[in-house]
Amino acid sequence: MMTRQLLLVTCIIFSYYDITSASYADEFDSIFANISDATLSEDGKLNFTQLATKYGHSADQYDLTTEDGYILTLFNLPGNGPPVLLLHGLDDICDTFIIRGKISLAITLADAGYDVWVGNSRGNKYGRRHINLDPDTDKEFWNFSFHEIGYYDLAATIDFICDKTGEDSIATVGHSQGTAAHYALTSTRPEYNEKIKVTISLAPIAFLSNLAPPISLITDVGPAISLLFKSLGMEEILQDRKALSNIITLICSKGLISYAFCGYGVVFPAFGFDPSNIESEFLRTIFGHYPAATSRKSLVHFDQVYLRKRFSQYDYGTIKNLAKYGSTAPPDYDLSAITAKMALVAGKNDQLSKVKDVENLRDRLSNVIHYEVLEPKLWSHLDFVWAKSLPIYLYPTMFKILKEHA
Ligand SMILES: *[C@@H]1O[C@H](CO)[C@@H](O)[C@H](O)[C@H]1NC(C)=O
Ligand SMILES: *[C@@H]1O[C@H](CO)[C@@H](O)[C@H](O)[C@H]1NC(C)=O
Ligand SMILES: *[C@@H]1O[C@H](CO)[C@@H](O)[C@H](O)[C@H]1NC(C)=O
Repeated sequence: MMTRQLLLVTCIIFSYYDITSASYADEFDSIFANISDATLSEDGKLNFTQLATKYGHSADQYDLTTEDGYILTLFNLPGNGPPVLLLHGLDDICDTFIIRGKISLAITLADAGYDVWVGNSRGNKYGRRHINLDPDTDKEFWNFSFHEIGYYDLAATIDFICDKTGEDSIATVGHSQGTAAHYALTSTRPEYNEKIKVTISLAPIAFLSNLAPPISLITDVGPAISLLFKSLGMEEILQDRKALSNIITLICSKGLISYAFCGYGVVFPAFGFDPSNIESEFLRTIFGHYPAATSRKSLVHFDQVYLRKRFSQYDYGTIKNLAKYGSTAPPDYDLSAITAKMALVAGKNDQLSKVKDVENLRDRLSNVIHYEVLEPKLWSHLDFVWAKSLPIYLYPTMFKILKEHA
């Protein structure tokens, strides 16, 4: 109980800080921007396009508009091979697939000749625009979770790529929330199964029934934290370049002490512990790109999946559920409606995508062409995008699947 209270208090302090500092936000911004400039690595300061260029590929940039009016930026490293779409996870951004440079997934696929498309979901800096909602003043802009990211963003992104390439279907890769978005889309709009040749799910997220501390301690008090954010009017969480995220940048990019704090204190316990794969020096790159932003509702939806032990649509409460879904409880996603080929890859030390939960998912999908728990004992949630040993443990499997099915 003490731990829970401590966590709650920490959250209160952090959010309080974010609010009270709002009036000083600009001043903070420039101070922190200057300090982090000195502490970040070169790749921590380059954006997606610049990183692509540095590692040998040109990146084309497109804007697409979803059916519900969100405007998303999509990047393409053109190649003569088959198209592959990469979709990032929660509080993440397309950069995740390129910040490892030469050995990153985007660059490795491009080097192998694939036509690489790297998407963004609503909320991050490449998805913070809407045809008539203002993310700074309209709360409605932040009314989304992985459901809308799948139902609208992923659908629009796949359609855009099919249209641009003249293909009927494409291969896709999702990481973490990016996989949940895939399951939401293909179970609620089954016609999209036809547009997917194969989906590779890295750190698949559907069931969250087996979370353990410290993550489960936070998810247990999720409703209280959410209520707090709500009462403070915070619908956007960890906004890019606002005070809170800049403080994290400042603390987390300062050498060994921050490695102890952000690595051992926050990142590793939360996502799984593997210091050999995400080394201290790499934090100076990571925190130039993170945290991206997300919505309060995104966190609440995952929290509901955990607390209710079901992979279901958003729970609006009995009365609103009745109006929206025609039932007092939100409907489960119908995993049997997913007919696209699925490859699931899990990690033994992944504290979010627990092997037991991934097995549960596998057993409910009808077209799993590959299931694998990667060999390293310490392989964790973020290793799927950031590990130094990606080329050894992950890529052989991925490239085999893409060669056979893309
Ligand atoms: C940050 O750096 C810019 C350019 O180097 C400078 O103009 C500005 O005064 C600096 N801001 C602070 C708060 O030091
Ligand atoms: C990347 O940075 C360059 C140089 O500042 C800028 O011209 C370009 O618009 C940026 N691209 C993106 C996608 O942010
Ligand atoms: C959020 O969107 C859903 C539809 O997706 C709607 O039913 C709900 O009322 C909206 N909530 C708010 C607070 O606007």
